[in-house]
Amino acid sequence: MAASLVRLHFHDCFVKGCDASVLLDNSSSIVSEKDSNPNKNSLRGFEVVDEIKAALEAACPSTVSCADILALAARDSTVLAGGPSWNVPLGRRDSLGASIQGSNNDIPAPNNTLPTIVTKFRRQGLGVADVVALSGGHTIGMSRCTSFRQRLYNQTGNGVADATLDVSYAARLGQGCPRSGGDDNLFPLDLATPARFDNLYFKNILAGKGLLSS
Ligand code: HEM
Repeated sequence: MAASLVRLHFHDCFVKGCDASVLLDNSSSIVSEKDSNPNKNSLRGFEVVDEIKAALEAACPSTVSCADILALAARDSTVLAGGPSWNVPLGRRDSLGASIQGSNNDIPAPNNTLPTIVTKFRRQGLGVADVVALSGGHTIGMSRCTSFRQRLYNQTGNGVADATLDVSYAARLGQGCPRSGGDDNLFPLDLATPARFDNLYFKNILAGKGLLSS
């Protein structure tokens, strides 16, 4: 759950700022970001945020925004998983609207090229060093087969696996992520220490054992 809460905050902040717009459901005036390509069938943790919000409303009504909850939950999840801490200034206001277009266009996709990913981070006022550091968030959590299958079977459109992927690691992934089917099968983003927030995400990449193309 720590990983899912970290990712919720990221997907919130990249669309209209950190305003909890990602939590809004469909209504007559809202097309929910939950149904965007980056979010559908893979963004998790909504029920945990609901529980936190309910507890806060019982203890201290109409005071803590959902946007602040997402920011604090991401920080505390990281700390509980063994990662670094940071100061979270509070006072974010919750959005009354959502942007599914923003969610589709501004959140990086796993098959985006590096220049595209850098451009999408720049739109948020973030630089290349931020791309590298924040990608380290993939030291915890899971990915569906459908998000990295291309690397196993057809990385550049010529029916060949990604040459930067360790061959034995690719073979192991292929057992649970076949050419077709098993789209939602889950695999750890960090095969070495999947629940620990450490620096093995970067070491795995150097060893050809990073899961996502990005
Ligand atoms: C650099 C561009 C990024 C791309 C292309 C990307 C893409 C992805 C993809 C495809 C998944 C798996 C989704 C699935 O199940 O199919 C994922 C999971 C995840 N991402 Fe990213 N991501 C990026 C940046 C980030 C950043 C900046 C963070 C946070 C600092 C982050 C945190 C996570 C976490 C924690 C998970 C696991 C979620 C879970 O287990 O529920 N990602 N990401």
